[in-house]
Amino acid sequence: MKGIILAGGNGTRLAPMTSVVSKQLLPVYGKPMIYYPLSVLLMGGITDILVIARPQDTALFQRLLGDGRRFGARIDYAVQEFPRGLADALIVGREHVGDDDMALMLGDNIFHGHDFASILTDALKNNVGATLFGYEVSDPQRYGVARLDHNGTVVDVVEKPVDPPSRLAITGFYIFTNDALSVAAQLVPSARGELEITDVIRHFVERGVARIIPLADGFAWLDAGTNESYIDACNYVHAIESRQGRKIACPEEVAYDAGLIGTDELRLSARLFRSSEYGMYLEQIVERETA
Ligand code: G1P
Repeated sequence: MKGIILAGGNGTRLAPMTSVVSKQLLPVYGKPMIYYPLSVLLMGGITDILVIARPQDTALFQRLLGDGRRFGARIDYAVQEFPRGLADALIVGREHVGDDDMALMLGDNIFHGHDFASILTDALKNNVGATLFGYEVSDPQRYGVARLDHNGTVVDVVEKPVDPPSRLAITGFYIFTNDALSVAAQLVPSARGELEITDVIRHFVERGVARIIPLADGFAWLDAGTNESYIDACNYVHAIESRQGRKIACPEEVAYDAGLIGTDELRLSARLFRSSEYGMYLEQIVERETA
């Protein structure tokens, strides 16, 4: 299973914050936004990851995450020349995926909830086509939305519907079998000029091999694409972290918990960020684990 994080796009809805910085490099309370999707992939044990970014941002992501060794992973980088839509990630990432299946994560999606690691592991293991994660929202018009039949089977997916068939938004984490690559290669741009991920998903729906896993009440799914949702995401992370004393999406910690790195690697990261709260947090984990 290969991982892809799509960190492209112009982030126009967040301008001027994004005029010179990629959206996915903006901080979401104490860490760069891309740490959140990166942690999800690591939590699922996915260690071969491609980060796709704009030409001017690729070097910045590389400086931030390096070759991935710090997280027990291998991270490569690819350039998306133009923001052609989400499904373009499956075209840019074609070589990286090779003959494998893939998990595609949007660089601005934040997932947090009880038991997510086991939900993820099950989903990755049992995927037979497309596996999606659904989340009930109050504003489905902003998202890709799933239509389900009375058995809970996905019968259609619609991108940004004016008249939504349900309130079940399709989150920005997609698991696909390898054939998604050839489906994406044949797509034509939608009315809004983008290669839509929902068009890829529809192929799997039509073949009866798409499954949607509804994320339960109490689970948090946030996207940080508008000023409002961005500040909501920052406030959410702050509230949970300060209350519980545990970080959300600390990739070094996630990698350690998933058995991808040991305390030696954790200690190196702790030193790298020595003077910050983040570094001290890592140091505390090392102390706890080596006591
Ligand atoms: C994209 C997808 C949409 C999905 C959403 C999740 O929308 O097109 O189907 O529900 O991500 O964040 P965008 O963020 O490009 O508006």
